[in-house]
Amino acid sequence: MMEEMIGGIRAEIEEKIGTIDSSAALYEFRKTFLDNKDGKISQLMKGMKDLPKEEKPAFGKIINELKTWVIETFDAYDEKIKALELAKKNQDEAIDVTMPGVKSEVGALHPDTMIINELIDIFAGMGFEIYEGKEIENDYYNFTALNTPKDHPARDMQDTFYVSDEFLLRTQTSAGQIHVMENAKPPIKILSPGKVFRSDDDATHSPMFSQMEGLVVDKNISLCDLQGMLDIFSARIFGEGVKTRLRPSYFPFTEPSVEVDVSCFACGGKGCKLCKGTGWIEVLGAGVVNRHVLENCGIDPDEYSGFAFGMGVERIAMLKYGINNIKALFESDTRFADQFKN
Ligand code: DAH
Repeated sequence: MMEEMIGGIRAEIEEKIGTIDSSAALYEFRKTFLDNKDGKISQLMKGMKDLPKEEKPAFGKIINELKTWVIETFDAYDEKIKALELAKKNQDEAIDVTMPGVKSEVGALHPDTMIINELIDIFAGMGFEIYEGKEIENDYYNFTALNTPKDHPARDMQDTFYVSDEFLLRTQTSAGQIHVMENAKPPIKILSPGKVFRSDDDATHSPMFSQMEGLVVDKNISLCDLQGMLDIFSARIFGEGVKTRLRPSYFPFTEPSVEVDVSCFACGGKGCKLCKGTGWIEVLGAGVVNRHVLENCGIDPDEYSGFAFGMGVERIAMLKYGINNIKALFESDTRFADQFKN
C-alpha cells in the first residue's frame, strides 16, 4: 500500500511536471507534495505510525529518499522555468532600434505672429518698449483724445463697433498712445501690437485685424527721425536696399501726417504686378504727433515733440508672404500656417 503510494507520487510528478509553464503553477503543484500539513509526503509520514515497528526505519529511509528526489526535481525544474521566463521577459521588453518612431506633428507659427515677432525684434533693437493696450476702449481714448472729437469727419474713416454709447472695440492701436502718455514722462519710446476691430469685410479687409503702433516723444523729435527709423525698419523687414518715401496725408492725431511707401521689393522699383507698376508699395501711416494730442495728455508741446506710426500686421504679412486674400489668415487651416514654417 505505502509502496504503491510512493510509486504513484513519482509517476504523477514525472508525468505532469513537463506540462507546467510558469513558476507560479509549479509552486502550487509542489505544495501538493511538500506542504508540511496536507502535502502527500507528510501524509505518507503520518501513515508510518500504523506500520509494524520493525518496518518503520526502512520505510522512513525510503520516504526521505523520495522527499529528497521530489525537492531536487522541483528545484531543477524551477530553475529551468525561471530561465525561460527571464528569456521571455527580455524578449518582450527588448527595444527594436530599427523600428520607425512615432511621428509627432510640430506646429507652425501663424504668419501674423511671425511678423509681430519680427517687428518687435527690430524695434526692440532700437530701444522701443512694448505696451499692450486694451481691446475695449472708451470713446475718449479711441477718438477724442486723439484729436477726433464727436462729429469730426475723420470718425467716418473707420466704421466702429460700439459696445455701448461710451464703449467700443478699439478701431486703432493709436488709443494706446494716450494711455502711455498719460502715465509716463518723455522720453517715451513704445511699440504697441494688438487686435483692432472695424466693420469692414472684403479681400483685403477683415472686421478683426492686427496693428502695430509706434510712438516716440522727446525733445527735438522731427520727421527726419521718423524717416531714419523707417529706413532701418523697411530694410530689415523687406530686405536690404528697400527705400522709403513719405507722401502727404491726413490723420487727426498727427501734423504733418504722411503715408509711407517702400520701394517695391519684388521688382526693385521698376514696376510689377505687386506694386501695380508704380515701383512703390504703401505700408503704413505716420506723422508728427499733433500738439493737441500732447496737450490732452499733459505734455508741453513747446518742450516736447514726437512722431507716431501705425501699420496693419496682416498687410505686411500679405505683402511679405505673397498672400492675396486676408481671409486665408483667419480660416485656422493649419495647412496654411505650415507653408510658412522655416
Ligand atoms: N491709426 C491709423 C489707422 O488705423 C494708423 C496711424 C496713422 C497711426 C498715423 C499713427 C499715425 O500713429 O501717426 O489707420
